[in-house]
Amino acid sequence: MKDPYRQFLRPVLFSGLKLDAELLHGYAIRTLSYLGRLGTESSWQTQWMQQQFCFTSPRLSQSCWGLTFPNPVGLAAGFDKDGEAALVWPWLGFGLAELGTVTRHGQPGNPTPRLFRLVDDGAVLNRMGFNNQGATALAGRLEQYWRDRPARIPMGINLGKSKVTPLAEAAADYQASFQLLQPYGDYFVINVSSPNTPGLRSLQSVEHLGEILTALRAVNNSDKPLLVKIAPDLAWADIDAIVDLAITGGLAGIIATNTTIARQGLKTQRLAQTGNLVAAEAGGISGLPLQQRSTEIIRHIYSRTQGTLPIIGVGGIFTAADAWEKITAGASLVQTYTGWLYEGPWMVRRLLTGLLTYLDQADLAGIGDAVGLSHRR
Ligand SMILES: Cc1cc2nc3c(=O)[nH]c(=O)nc-3n(C[C@H](O)[C@H](O)[C@H](O)COP(=O)(O)O)c2cc1C
Repeated sequence: MKDPYRQFLRPVLFSGLKLDAELLHGYAIRTLSYLGRLGTESSWQTQWMQQQFCFTSPRLSQSCWGLTFPNPVGLAAGFDKDGEAALVWPWLGFGLAELGTVTRHGQPGNPTPRLFRLVDDGAVLNRMGFNNQGATALAGRLEQYWRDRPARIPMGINLGKSKVTPLAEAAADYQASFQLLQPYGDYFVINVSSPNTPGLRSLQSVEHLGEILTALRAVNNSDKPLLVKIAPDLAWADIDAIVDLAITGGLAGIIATNTTIARQGLKTQRLAQTGNLVAAEAGGISGLPLQQRSTEIIRHIYSRTQGTLPIIGVGGIFTAADAWEKITAGASLVQTYTGWLYEGPWMVRRLLTGLLTYLDQADLAGIGDAVGLSHRR
């Protein structure tokens, strides 16, 4: 099938028109939010989306943390920070979706421009800085959404630290957001890896992370799985320390990885929008330049834990081959953001049908059997 996004829409969106990336993102979220709220299970809009974008096979379904994931391909955090389009993600084929990052206090984020496409690299540079309406607003929205229509796929909520909260009070800040949002998410992510909140990544130290984890566990009445999302720029020793904490401290899993502050190997020298040197711009890079590093980290964590700690793999997934590489390196689930921007809404379906072909080629019954396969063969 010809893909209308790649054929018609992408050439316009990614043309030399210099359309503002954040403005387009805002339109996309509003449209998706509208579609999600408009459709019911039986409405023609929903039926059309399901037929176009979804692909179902019991061989792609998997259980993890007592949750059933109809397929392993998820939407990564940051696309739907305020959960506005929360109702639409299952109809776009995703097997999980992660809302947020949300902070205890609503905040505007960094000054614009703060979102740039590096088209020649299949990448995005962002320094959004956790722009979001805050945990109370997200809780109110999800309360209403789920009352009308309970989520059909596991929904994660990604928690960050408010900019106004000093680092020393971070644990209480994460705890307050978690308390407000606990009933509305299926799993929760402690995000300590965004490069765009000053000092945030220092919370990846075992001492700080341990404090946050203890604070969340103290109020985790419904026993929600708690994961941590790590940066790709950590040294191996720091990754090992987090993995060890995960095992001893009761973390349910690790998300590898967030965006990178590395700038090596980029083809794009200057930003199309501003003409500034990419190397000198603050922010995190996502997409293809991140792909190998995130896979390497997944492989390392899987080895160190001998596959006992579920990993969500994210970074530069554009094709089924990319997803398969991360799954066989040790990711139980994968997520995508930049790839989905570039490849469009038919990408998930392509990934899922492609994964099924890989399962056939490897003579495996289900996707769970492929997790960590490259360590066994
Ligand atoms: C514009 C943009 C905003 C993002 N915002 C967040 C965020 O709020 N929280 C988060 O944990 N990750 C955020 N991310 C990181 C993604 O969730 C993901 O970890 C990263 O982009 C790597 O995946 P990808 O190569 O598929 O994009 C953001 C990424 C982009 C491109």
